[in-house]
Amino acid sequence: MKARKIKDRIYWMGSVDWDRRLFDSLVPLPDGTSYNAYLVEGSEKTVLLDSVDPAMADELMGQLEGITKIDYIISHHAEQDHSGTIPQVLEKYPDARLISTPRAKGMLIDLLRIPEESFITVKDGDTLSLGDKTLKFIHTPWVHWPETMVTYLEEDRILFSCDFFGSHIATTDLYVTDEGRVYEAAKRYYAEIMMPFRNVIEKNLGKLASYDIEMIAPSHGQIYPRPAFIIDAYRDWILGPPRNTAVLPYVSMHGSTKQMVDYLVSALVERGVGVEQFNLEVTDTGKLAMALVDAATIVIGTPTILTGPHPYAAYAAFLANALRPKAKFLSIIGSYGWGGKTVETLAGMIPNLKVEVIDPVLCKGVPSEGDFKALDELAAAIAEKHKEHNFLSEDTIPI
Ligand code: FEO
Repeated sequence: MKARKIKDRIYWMGSVDWDRRLFDSLVPLPDGTSYNAYLVEGSEKTVLLDSVDPAMADELMGQLEGITKIDYIISHHAEQDHSGTIPQVLEKYPDARLISTPRAKGMLIDLLRIPEESFITVKDGDTLSLGDKTLKFIHTPWVHWPETMVTYLEEDRILFSCDFFGSHIATTDLYVTDEGRVYEAAKRYYAEIMMPFRNVIEKNLGKLASYDIEMIAPSHGQIYPRPAFIIDAYRDWILGPPRNTAVLPYVSMHGSTKQMVDYLVSALVERGVGVEQFNLEVTDTGKLAMALVDAATIVIGTPTILTGPHPYAAYAAFLANALRPKAKFLSIIGSYGWGGKTVETLAGMIPNLKVEVIDPVLCKGVPSEGDFKALDELAAAIAEKHKEHNFLSEDTIPI
C-alpha cells in the first residue's frame, strides 16, 4: 500500500498484516494487525515516527522511495514490530538521528545493534522543532515495556501513541469508523499486554489529560478521530469497579467437571451473577483475557490429573496471575479420582492476585447430591460477596 495523507505534510506509512494470527508466539490475532509508521514534514526537518515489523520492511522502504531526506527517526518503543526496520531506514538515511528515551536506547542497541552514535535521547517533556511543526516527547513507561514514550505534534494536535491505545485489526480504513469493533480489539490488546501495568498506565493517562488531542495515531490499528472514545474506554478498564461477572475457565476429561460447571453456571445466573465460561480445550486466550478485565470473580474448573490440576487449568491460573486482573474473589471446582493436590497447586500459582478465596468444591468421581448442594452454596457465597461490594444490586436479581 502507498503512503496515505492524514493532514498537510503528515502521512501514514507502514503495513497492514492481514495474515498474521499470532503475536509473540502467544497472543492470538483473529483479525490480523497493522504496523503504522508516520512521516511528518516540517518546514525545515522531516521525521519518521517508528518503523514496521522486519517481515514488512520492503513495504515501508518502498513508501520511502522519493523521500530524499529524513532528519530524525523516533522510536517510541523498542519492540521489533515497531523498531525492527529502523536499521534499514538508517542505512538509507545515514545522517538521520534516532530519537528515543534513554532506556529505549540501551534496548535498541541490545536488540538491533544500532550504533550508539546514531542516538539522541530525550527527557520527559523535551521538544523538537521541525520548523513550523513541534514535537513534544512524553514518557509513558510500561506500555507494556519500561522504555515507552509517546509524541505530541503540537500544531496539529496529534498524539502518536505507538502501542498505547492500539488495536490489532487489519483493515484499509485509516480512521476508526466502527467504534464497537475497535472497542473489542483494543480491549483485547489492553487485556493481553497492558493490564498488569494498569497502575502506571493510569498515571500515563493522567499525564495526557492536559493535552488538547484532536487525533490519536497508534502504531497498531486505526487512527482515532474521536480520542475521547478510547481514552474513556481505558479509564473504565483501569479504574472502573469490577462487574457482576464470574469468569469460569475450565477443562473436563470425562464430563464430571463439566457437570459441575454447568450446575454452577445455572446456580450463579439464578442468583443474578453473570458468567463468562471458557472451555480451555478450544478457547481463544485473548477472549479469556478480555473477560478478566472486568470480572469480580474467577472460578477455575479442573479435573485432577497426575496428582494436580489439568495443565490447561494451570495455564489459565498462570495467565490470570500474570495479567493481575482486578477480580476480588476466586474459587476452584472439579473432580478427582482418588486424591491429589489440585487446590494447593493452583493456589500456589496465583500469588499476584489480591483475591479472597471462597471455599473450593472438589468431588470424588461424578458429582453427588451433596456436591451439587456445595455448588449451590458456592454460588450463594459469590452472589453475596458481589452484593456486599455493590457489584450486584437487588434489581439485577432475576425473579
Ligand atoms: Fe506493538 Fe509492544 O509492540
